[in-house]
Amino acid sequence: MQVTATAPGKAILFGEHSVVYGKPAIAVAVDRRAQVKIQKLDNTEDNTIQVKVKNPPLSRCIDLKEDRIIPEDKNNQNGILDYIFKSLKKVNQEDGIEITVDLKIPLGAGLGSSAAVTVATIAAASRYNQINLSKDEIAEYAHQVELEVQGAASPIDTTISTFGGIIYLSRNAKTAIPLQINWDLPLVIGYTEKPGNTGKLVESVRLKRKAYPEIINPILDSMERITENAREALLHGNQKKLGDLMNINQGLLDALGVNSIELSNMVYTARNTGAIGSKITGAGGGGSIIAFCPNKLEKVVSALEASENAFSVHISPEGVQVNVDE
Ligand code: MEV
Repeated sequence: MQVTATAPGKAILFGEHSVVYGKPAIAVAVDRRAQVKIQKLDNTEDNTIQVKVKNPPLSRCIDLKEDRIIPEDKNNQNGILDYIFKSLKKVNQEDGIEITVDLKIPLGAGLGSSAAVTVATIAAASRYNQINLSKDEIAEYAHQVELEVQGAASPIDTTISTFGGIIYLSRNAKTAIPLQINWDLPLVIGYTEKPGNTGKLVESVRLKRKAYPEIINPILDSMERITENAREALLHGNQKKLGDLMNINQGLLDALGVNSIELSNMVYTARNTGAIGSKITGAGGGGSIIAFCPNKLEKVVSALEASENAFSVHISPEGVQVNVDE
């Protein structure tokens, strides 16, 4: 038996950082996916898991008996292997299997690559072990895995990767509400090779808020109002308002200290070539920007590609998908 699961990456449209303080957020699933394939190992006595990652290439083993990844990384930098390992534990994987991961989402760019790998691994491994998980359960397990590996994480990445589409996450992540949008949302992602460190950036905002609560709290409150207004703009197809809100949000993210020279250059390059709105997406510090570019997709992509990487994205209405070959 061979089980294949795919799950999309994501981009946060509104609410990064403020979501950590219980504010709402809006995220979209993008048509760049992680694919996880599980096959039985030929040697059925063997209870090691062989993991092969295609892009970037990596080949390691997980020894289930000894409960560790082999060979161990001296700097404790197992990357997505830690997510795969913990995902398999969630479904009590016991037999030896081969897992092949094909990642079409750039790593460390704030586009939800680890969440997509986690969601796809849980979906594939649960089906392989004949455990029936609902989408809510997959999202919940995947969020637990992100918490175990990262220490802190909002459920936004794992929720959007599981369900797909556009999601409004209400205050304190109480409910994830799909937004039905009947107009095209032409988006471009620009990303720098320099990754942002989410943990450090979240911590730096926490320290800034502690030092200047009367200044930072109103910024987080403004971000909340931006997200609420953006929800209305999305539902009513108000392009101008959506772009304005992205640009205002960018200014506030800069005020929180999560901008960088590369991100700022991309934000202005996108605007100068016709984007109505552009902002950091994700934690910042490095990573990605998102630009809203009606009728200007190609122009913005090629302008960004002159100095960094860029691609246009479509919203992926499908979340996690599983396919079984007997
Ligand atoms: C990172 O993609 C988004 C942050 O808000 C952190 C989080 O929500 O876990 C910066």
